[in-house]
Amino acid sequence: MSEQKDRVVLAYSGGLDTSVAIGWIAEQTGAEVVTVSVDVGQGGEDLEVIRQRAIDCGAVEAYIADARDEFANEYCMPALAANGLYMDAYPLVSAISRPTIVKHLVTAARRFGASTVAHGCTGKGNDQVRFEVGITSLGPDLKCLSPVRDLALTREFAIEYANKHDLPIETTKNNPFSIDQNVWGRAIETGFLEDIWNAPTKDVYQYTDDPTYPPLPDEVIISFDKGIPVAIDGQKVTPLEAIQILNRRAGAQGIGRIDIVEDRMVGIKSREIYEAPGAMTLIEAHRELENVTLDREQARFKRTVADQWTNIVYEGQWFSPLKKSLDAFIESTQEYVSGDIRMTLHGGRATVTGRRSDTSLYDFNLATYDAGDTFDQASARGFIEITGLPSKLAAARDVSFGNGEDLGESVLS
Ligand code: ARG
Repeated sequence: MSEQKDRVVLAYSGGLDTSVAIGWIAEQTGAEVVTVSVDVGQGGEDLEVIRQRAIDCGAVEAYIADARDEFANEYCMPALAANGLYMDAYPLVSAISRPTIVKHLVTAARRFGASTVAHGCTGKGNDQVRFEVGITSLGPDLKCLSPVRDLALTREFAIEYANKHDLPIETTKNNPFSIDQNVWGRAIETGFLEDIWNAPTKDVYQYTDDPTYPPLPDEVIISFDKGIPVAIDGQKVTPLEAIQILNRRAGAQGIGRIDIVEDRMVGIKSREIYEAPGAMTLIEAHRELENVTLDREQARFKRTVADQWTNIVYEGQWFSPLKKSLDAFIESTQEYVSGDIRMTLHGGRATVTGRRSDTSLYDFNLATYDAGDTFDQASARGFIEITGLPSKLAAARDVSFGNGEDLGESVLS
């Protein structure tokens, strides 16, 4: 029996770089290449077409997975529960898709007996970290390979290689941007956007229409059950459907466009454009429902936990012990996050106009200034006395040591 060749599993998008990587990895390492393509709702080409291209480019096996529901349920929903916005702005679009893809890469590595997992990321970004930290978390024995970074697979080389080997892939289409997209949103970088004074042009956007010229306002009611969107305008939906529907409706209003200079893990600041109409609308609605249903101290502490969750997810620690522990806390906060949020989608904004919940902590009779007020205002006096006591004592001491606040002439006279 001849000895089994070593195998490399390659994360395959169907684009130029990863198509060339199939043959290039085989040449450089002597291994057979198995491709893995995962549908996380990026749209575009059919997975079957991509599968066939992988085979035509020399892959010995081509694994494809429709992970759209998995991605929505197990990755987007926890990001929603955390209201996950890196630097208070970026809804983690690429950061949460990488661990989804990693799971399938490791599954394929096991199934096809591969020792190594490869991906098409460069050596400058966050995604290489997310892939490789994820891969070694789920498969500590697996090796990682980045042909762009480790095997000098440049764009010029890729074009030359594809032409020389007559690969069934377009080499002439010159897209100025580097784009990553899935159902949670779309990330656009490079090209003229690298001059951070340059405004994005129309052609940058695909998920959103120009918010300056919106159609008529669109009213929507989003119903949540324990932090998960379960219905839109009374129609039952899965998480995937909720995101897709809101991508369309909020996208038509130009909601969820983001333009920031972002702190990457490798220390570089980079200009990023995002569009995430569904994600940003859901986060806005979910946040407001939490305002109604979370206890004040629980809400405050949750913001701290969620901020940490967001940072470590951005930094590729999806499968880490800390992330699991933070998940448990965040999940426990969602117990009563159920009810309806009504919003008006218009001109780039999703504005909450109403909330309704059986598990609300809002008490009309406590809040009202009308008759029927049940709040005992007399008890506020003692509360203020006690809550102000430490500062009162300290201020008296300052005065006795000549360090009192100078409140100016008018107060003294
Ligand atoms: N900067 C974002 C992140 O690190 C997006 C990266 C997306 N990748 C791309 N090729 N556009 O999550």
